Amino acid sequence: MNRNTDFIPFSKPSTGIEEENAAVRVIRSGWLTSGIEVKEFEKEFASYVGSKHALTVNSATAGLHLALEALGISRGDKVATTPYTFTATSEVIRYLGADPIFVDIERDSWNIDPELLEKAIIEYNGQIKAILPVHMGGQHCRMDEICAIAEKYNVKIIEDAAHSFPVKTERGFSGTIGDAGVYSFYANKTITTGEGGMIVTDSDEIARRVSIMRLHGIDRDAWNRYTSSAGSWKYAVVAAGFKYNMTDIAAAIGREQLKKAMDFLNARKEIARKYHNGMKHFDFIKIPEYKRDHSWHLYIIRLAEEKLSIDRDSFIEELKIEGIGTSVHYIPLHMMPYYKELYSFKETDFPETLQKYRESISIPIFPGMTEFQVERVISSIKKIGEKYYRYNV
Ligand SMILES: Cc1ncc(COP(=O)(O)O)c(C=O)c1O
Repeated sequence: MNRNTDFIPFSKPSTGIEEENAAVRVIRSGWLTSGIEVKEFEKEFASYVGSKHALTVNSATAGLHLALEALGISRGDKVATTPYTFTATSEVIRYLGADPIFVDIERDSWNIDPELLEKAIIEYNGQIKAILPVHMGGQHCRMDEICAIAEKYNVKIIEDAAHSFPVKTERGFSGTIGDAGVYSFYANKTITTGEGGMIVTDSDEIARRVSIMRLHGIDRDAWNRYTSSAGSWKYAVVAAGFKYNMTDIAAAIGREQLKKAMDFLNARKEIARKYHNGMKHFDFIKIPEYKRDHSWHLYIIRLAEEKLSIDRDSFIEELKIEGIGTSVHYIPLHMMPYYKELYSFKETDFPETLQKYRESISIPIFPGMTEFQVERVISSIKKIGEKYYRYNV
């Protein structure tokens, strides 16, 4: 094995013997689907982030769908979000027959621009019912401004916190600040259950609706209320719900991951710090600000196009040759055929999004990354940058 050429993946889950034992414990218990492990995971998670309710689901996509449904978002409504996100954020709006109103991102991050958000709310004159801010890459959005706007125009907030667990801000954990927040436990996220998600809220009303709709619209209390015969096998279907529940196997893994969440965060912060110190002098890239309110789920560098004779895609190819895995987060949604055709978007409709997309590369960051691997990423970027440097500018 040649340590110099081993491929460094862009992301890798950090699981150990604890998660293995937890999964085996559940498999041997004879109860595999939602049960005691789910209940315990929810209790532990709610207490961890300080929210009244935490409800497990089988993905953040499901969680976002349920949270919007619980707010009563339906056909004809509009929901403000950014085009700089994964398709899940926006597709759930479409599931409900509502329309996403894309708002461009701000200059110094990949997050929704609060000023443009307010403009959109005014422009759509009461039609925007909810805001779906995405804490892109784990960087917490400007929630003070977003909350003030939401209050001023009486609009609800569902935080897409798929990337931002466990960022703690002055107002509480990222994801707990809006009316509800949704975390993802997909395999590459900051903690994982393989596939999974969590909705957090302080609203009894949202929690109740979510708990009914995540499992077929079944309401056992309703059965007890409307019939004289209560019974453990009896249930009432009160809506056409969904099959979005988490299994006990996933929840048991999640409970172990939750215990490690702060260690993972510290490891990610340390890698981000090393990247920052190792690359802050490279003038052919722009690195993210080393801010506190960041989970460092993603570390996104941006190429200074004017300093280089190659474009982003070729830079990625060069990194691949060096054995460095990368990704691009994200191809903006307004450039995707579905949204482009549905809403007749032009690429230039969201200039900041377009610019960031053209320049961005997500480089490896995961808790198990070694110092040697971090250094190899830095030196590979330096090597490529020097090879293609435009000395004439
Ligand atoms: C910003 C964002 N929101 C939502 C999701 C959906 O998460 P999940 O895969 O758990 O459904 C993702 C997934 O990557 C995401 O990146």
